[in-house]
Amino acid sequence: MSNMLFRKLSRFGWFKRLNTKISNELLAKRITSSEWTFMNHGYVPNKEESVLSALNDESFDRYELQMYHYLASKVSFTGKLVLEIESGRGGGARHIAETFKPVYYTGMDRAKHAVDFSNKTHSLDNLKFIQGSAEAIPLSDKCVDIVIDIESCHNYGSIDTYLHEVWRVLNSGGYFLLTSYHSNNNELSAIRQKLDKSGMVILEEENITSNVLDAIDANEKITSRWIEDTIPTKLKKWFGEYTGAAGSQFHQNLKSGTGSYYRFLLRKK
Ligand SMILES: C[S@@+](CC[C@H](N)C(=O)[O-])C[C@H]1O[C@@H](n2cnc3c(N)ncnc32)[C@H](O)[C@@H]1O
Repeated sequence: MSNMLFRKLSRFGWFKRLNTKISNELLAKRITSSEWTFMNHGYVPNKEESVLSALNDESFDRYELQMYHYLASKVSFTGKLVLEIESGRGGGARHIAETFKPVYYTGMDRAKHAVDFSNKTHSLDNLKFIQGSAEAIPLSDKCVDIVIDIESCHNYGSIDTYLHEVWRVLNSGGYFLLTSYHSNNNELSAIRQKLDKSGMVILEEENITSNVLDAIDANEKITSRWIEDTIPTKLKKWFGEYTGAAGSQFHQNLKSGTGSYYRFLLRKK
């Protein structure tokens, strides 16, 4: 019953904003482990892709890091000003700022505690974190060369407002790197249509559902041990569901083929 109500309410933009605001502030405030700096589901590369040396270690977040590396490797960051939307706990921002060396990288997240955590945990000369919403980016028009956003745009209140904001802050010719999850084919078609009308051109589109599924499966043991050791008992079940761990609704949707996970590369006209 409560699941059904949740699904119904999730159709409304106001509910999505409220739900993500409360849950993300709670997460960032309650889970202070400086070890946990990535929040995406991870990416296992295809055979022909170059594999990060970090992938060979046993750290529980190696596939999440690979998701950032994989997406960032699609364009050159040299000499560029970058904005990341929903930078979360900042691990990906740090990796790109350190490895791909843009001139400046701004990570933005709506959750104040996540921004404070990121500024405290990741200190680099070309990196800072600010609080702001994807639907009202606190930056001037045409001020960045690359916008990057990993994973959760389906939770924003209005995708049209979000895409207009991305378009507004990008310089002409600027790139937009996006990964997104869709719980069914209608959602996928809807985001494609919105991207088509965004004033940016879709240069690349790739279905990476199997790469994400492989990451969840490969990480199953490490993730459940980490949840067991780190997450307060009362939050364990909710946390597994929220983060899409093995056995969650998200995981089942991808496995059954109902849900999908895509990468897009767009360029502002
Ligand atoms: C699944 S996490 C992804 C974080 C990061 N991209 C990563 O892969 O580690 C989702 C993040 O999006 C943020 N978020 C949700 N809605 C947002 C919005 N409208 N604007 C900016 N950030 C938002 C949340 O606070 C949370 O930190």
